[in-house]
Amino acid sequence: MMMNETLKVIENRRSIRKYASTPLSAEEKQAILHAALRAPTAGNMMLYSIIEVEDQATKDRLAVTCDDQPFIATAPLVLLFVADYQRFFDFYSFCDVESACAEKGITPRLPGDGDLLLASCDALIAAQTAVIAAESLGIGSCYIGDILENAEIHREMFELPQYTLPITLLVFGRPSILKEENRLTPRYDQEYVVFKNKYRRLLPADFIRMNEPAAAHNYPNLTREEAAITLGQNNYFRKFVADFEIEMNRSSRVWIDSWNQGITLK
Ligand SMILES: Cc1cc2nc3c(=O)[nH]c(=O)nc-3n(C[C@H](O)[C@H](O)[C@H](O)COP(=O)(O)O)c2cc1C
Repeated sequence: MMMNETLKVIENRRSIRKYASTPLSAEEKQAILHAALRAPTAGNMMLYSIIEVEDQATKDRLAVTCDDQPFIATAPLVLLFVADYQRFFDFYSFCDVESACAEKGITPRLPGDGDLLLASCDALIAAQTAVIAAESLGIGSCYIGDILENAEIHREMFELPQYTLPITLLVFGRPSILKEENRLTPRYDQEYVVFKNKYRRLLPADFIRMNEPAAAHNYPNLTREEAAITLGQNNYFRKFVADFEIEMNRSSRVWIDSWNQGITLK
């Protein structure tokens, strides 16, 4: 496989959840943020904001509100990535686009679902760019998807206005244990994920084969089919119908609905 310094950084990255207590230097933080802002962005509009959570009490609270993950509170750098149409929409208002629309006979509109998805793309691409920049400096990171839970609490904590959505939280720190002790997690083979020209729905034989390595490791005494079914059921109960995913879906609905309510919130 081709390899260079950049590909090595990507290959060896893994989520880091235990941090050395040394803070990150101002230069390191600046390098990570600068790289994030160099990420591609739709229409070069930068439809995201990044909130650095410096306040320890807020980190402590996030460690609870993001599905009780105490390591969040121990991270020297915590960045909230917000899909943000508020800034551009406020800018449009400042530019009096309503009068300009009236003159041109164009109906003005409010940010909608597509704008939300595009802003989420922007925010996530900036986030992943920060991850790779940090990794290249020897600084580990971990996404916290549970920031999508507890919409009401997080809206208030960060004073997030209507046309925003906290799409992801990233925690950073120097790994406290040797990287080698923290193994790379496996991935499904490309044939189940990368298709040519058209989408390919997977068949029962694919599900059995794609889960074979994990099945053999976890359930050596079951048949390949039984082991794949057991893995799938475990995943379903641990994740899909778990309380945190139910809450994530409820809370996400609150965020999405608030974008579609017209201008009602501050
Ligand atoms: C969108 C997203 C949300 C995630 N949320 C969490 C989380 O809340 N807590 C956590 O410990 N890891 C979280 N992770 C990290 C994944 O568990 C991790 O990326 C996955 O297990 C693969 O491991 P690796 O990153 O070490 O390769 C999240 C990752 C992504 C991309």
